[in-house]
Amino acid sequence: MKILSAEYETSIVSKRLLESTKPEIAVAGRSNVGKSSFINMLTARKKLARSSSEPGRTRMLNYFNINKGEFYLVDLPGYGYARVAERQKEDWKEIIEYYLTNSKNLKHVYLIVDIRHEPGASDLQLAEYLTYYEIPFTVLATKADKLSRMACAKAAEDVKKAFKGIDVIVISAEKGTGREDVLAHISTILS
Ligand code: GTP
Ligand code: MG
Repeated sequence: MKILSAEYETSIVSKRLLESTKPEIAVAGRSNVGKSSFINMLTARKKLARSSSEPGRTRMLNYFNINKGEFYLVDLPGYGYARVAERQKEDWKEIIEYYLTNSKNLKHVYLIVDIRHEPGASDLQLAEYLTYYEIPFTVLATKADKLSRMACAKAAEDVKKAFKGIDVIVISAEKGTGREDVLAHISTILS
């Protein structure tokens, strides 16, 4: 598929969802892993989703309208950020879980992990949660530009092993690696 247009639609902070009948693809992952950067890379819009070197940038559900209503990309708040209050963490967890279990049009989740690191407990917990609720998902191993080609192949294998049987696509928001793979994957999700 091709992304011809991408527009910010709305942000949602509490237990409320966008009323729409269009398919949704959500982007989840640890804080600062590169969710917003992935959305910018995919849509070829440098500043569509706010990315930041400061973790915890995305604190809401942000909906992006792709191709004027073909589907929505939903940028979820990051989890696993140590330096926020417990109360805040609970709020984010609630927002994420509320979205995952209540969105009627959610077709797929892209779970983003850093290719250089072993998936953390919170990543595996989310994978279990998605499996339990039968929400289809794919792991995107990002920041591939930080590794050599050889190291990348090895690291991708490690990620695959950790998520036992879940598909893994290697990407880099920095270099655009994997963009065509993800676009092809989205075509199959929407068909
Ligand atoms: P929160 O919204 O805080 O949860 O973060 P996020 O997951 O949206 O991460 P974000 O896209 O803001 O990126 C975090 C940092 O990682 C930024 O400094 C990005 O420039 C950097 N980054 C993201 N993707 C890549 C990548 O593929 N390669 C490299 N080298 N850096 C990346
Ligand atoms: Mg973000």
